[in-house]
Amino acid sequence: MVVTVDGPAGSGKSSASRLLARKLGFAFLDTGALYRAIALAAQWDDMPDQGEAKLAAWLRKVPLEAISQDGSFLVLLGGQDVEPYIRNEAISQLASRLSALAPVREHLLGLQRAAGRDGDLVAEGRDMGTVVFPQAEAKFFLTAGEQERARRRWLELKQSGQQIEMADVLADLRQRDQRDSERSLSPLRPATDAVVLDTTPLSLAEVVDTLAKKVRERRTSAPR
Ligand code: DC
Repeated sequence: MVVTVDGPAGSGKSSASRLLARKLGFAFLDTGALYRAIALAAQWDDMPDQGEAKLAAWLRKVPLEAISQDGSFLVLLGGQDVEPYIRNEAISQLASRLSALAPVREHLLGLQRAAGRDGDLVAEGRDMGTVVFPQAEAKFFLTAGEQERARRRWLELKQSGQQIEMADVLADLRQRDQRDSERSLSPLRPATDAVVLDTTPLSLAEVVDTLAKKVRERRTSAPR
């Protein structure tokens, strides 16, 4: 069974999806980490804007892998775990910019779908329910008020030791959401059959419980 969770930055989808996967005993795939890893590789290689053909050729050489480990997909570049390097605002913005480009989206499509082939999966991102797993058995779209999303994102950055003003976080978030929603390829939007959940007034535990309950309902009502 594939469960998709989409939504804008700070909607709580990453934390909720990770915990949901653990609760259900499903594997977890954070597809934003794949886009962030591409952004990191672009930063390392000082990849200039050279047009789509050159970008596609460069992407084929990026040593990117998603390896299943302890129930989560670990994202590796050249065999190295990228996690410590991808959670900052420069990478957020670059990932968002690169994710609007066709060669990048096409390059990551196969990798993401492969993760759903081996069993139960919770996949989190922007286009999981609309493009990557349109046949998913349970789809969610998480939202939250802009101020609340900025507050959550600011707290996350602060907890990881990054000093940044709330106003800057809000501005970055607005810019990224606008770009992610207005791009022509796989824009951020709920699938027509997604359950939309506003997480603004909910605790993380409440969000996870709500999602888990709906997945279980789908499982028992799905034809076998
Ligand atoms: O979820 P995130 O903030 O880690 O994602 C970083 C960027 O990657 C986001 O601004 C847009 C892009 N992205 C995407 O276009 N499609 C996805 N499925 C996941 C992320």
